[in-house]
Amino acid sequence: MNAVLQPPATRTTAEWQAADTAHYLHPFTDFKSLAAKGSRVITRADNIYLWDSDGHKILDAMSGLWCVNVGYGQQALIDAATEQLKQLPFYNSFFQTATPPAIELAELLAEVTPPQFKHVFFSGSGSEGNDTVVRMVRRYWDVLGQPQRSVIISRNNAYHGSTMAGASLGGMRYMHAQGGLPIPGIVHIEQPFWFLHGHGKSRDEFGFEAARWLEAKILEVGADKVAAFIGEPIQGAGGVIVPPATYWPEIQRVCDQYGILIVADEVICGFGRTGNWWGCETMGFRPDLMTFAKGVTSGYIPLGGVMVGERIARVMIDQGGEFEHGYTYSGHPVACAVALANIRLIQRLDLVDQVRTDTGPYLAEHFKALSEHPLIGEAQSVGLMGALQIVKDKSAGTCFDGALDVGMICRGHCFANGLIMRAVVDRMIIAPPLVITRAQIDDMAALIRLCLDATLRDLQQRGLL
Ligand SMILES: Cc1ncc(COP(=O)(O)O)c(C=O)c1O
Repeated sequence: MNAVLQPPATRTTAEWQAADTAHYLHPFTDFKSLAAKGSRVITRADNIYLWDSDGHKILDAMSGLWCVNVGYGQQALIDAATEQLKQLPFYNSFFQTATPPAIELAELLAEVTPPQFKHVFFSGSGSEGNDTVVRMVRRYWDVLGQPQRSVIISRNNAYHGSTMAGASLGGMRYMHAQGGLPIPGIVHIEQPFWFLHGHGKSRDEFGFEAARWLEAKILEVGADKVAAFIGEPIQGAGGVIVPPATYWPEIQRVCDQYGILIVADEVICGFGRTGNWWGCETMGFRPDLMTFAKGVTSGYIPLGGVMVGERIARVMIDQGGEFEHGYTYSGHPVACAVALANIRLIQRLDLVDQVRTDTGPYLAEHFKALSEHPLIGEAQSVGLMGALQIVKDKSAGTCFDGALDVGMICRGHCFANGLIMRAVVDRMIIAPPLVITRAQIDDMAALIRLCLDATLRDLQQRGLL
């Protein structure tokens, strides 16, 4: 048989890696260095575990990429996709048409989101959702006769996706450096990262101060020019940065005072991750728009979108005329059918309550114990997302030189021991599937400790401690 036609499972790891290197350019990857070592090839998954092409079992403490909230192998989602593929694999929502799964999903989303939301605009991803946000908030102010209100304020170290608008909204300088970003009309303020910026202040005091940076920026830009403020309720890709409890309520006060729209990017925090359906509920604010993706289908199939609050929806519907924006896959029927099955499964398993009242607090207990580890300067978790800040000197709270890539050293020990934990500089972060049990949290915490111990020994041997 021709090698190209062989069933996938029959290839060896080396064969997979050779074909991968020859043809596949991966996202956020140094192509040359990956080619030198070869990819890790993941071939199957079940519940919270993955297996690679060498048969190693790995505990996936990142839910894929913060998305597989109901865990791998859920038959209800597989059946929903299969049935919809047979019934109607595709039709679009342009040209005054719709499909039953897209309509039913819009209806269900209105039910599980805060009361100000009754309408949704679908996209294929979180990045596309945030592109929609940029166009929609500018259009909203335009329709209201205030086209000069076009500036969107975001934050340093935010992540809002990788398209031109998504990456511009994001506050990752290394992304802006490639491709001439940010696009005009997007400005940034400092992030509410107490460990980095709040020394000498209480968390609450710092939360107020960080929110006032928004007010200062509004006054600098001119309040009549600011369209919206966008933020992740808890920054995810930036390192699971949990703002002080005072931050978001004060942001709400400032935005209300100047009439500025609030956009919650719920791509990670949504669908139960923080112990409520939405991160804005956990952090105490009332957004006008919410971007979602990932957890809407538990990542089984791509889907994203924007919940549009009535303040905006009424203007867009009653006075806006045609909104010149949309994607081929807006409201894709198979994706919507999977999302319906996924949300109903979250409801049936009572996963959101389980995270808030049981597994979230249980993870927090483990994190409290892990914060005693000599390498850890701060351990934070909310619901089932958490971060462990690696420090060089625990008592002084000082970090390692960033060039040493200590987080990547730790991540290497995690992979070697069958655990996926992500490194953001020297912050080790987790966001396990919401179906994780207490016994599995025990296993995960034991693995984390083992990997931190291995990292500590490694750093001592390298003479870095
Ligand atoms: C908060 C947030 N917004 C937007 C995105 C972009 O989503 P996507 O990768 O589906 O375009 C991400 C991805 O991680 C995210 O974390």
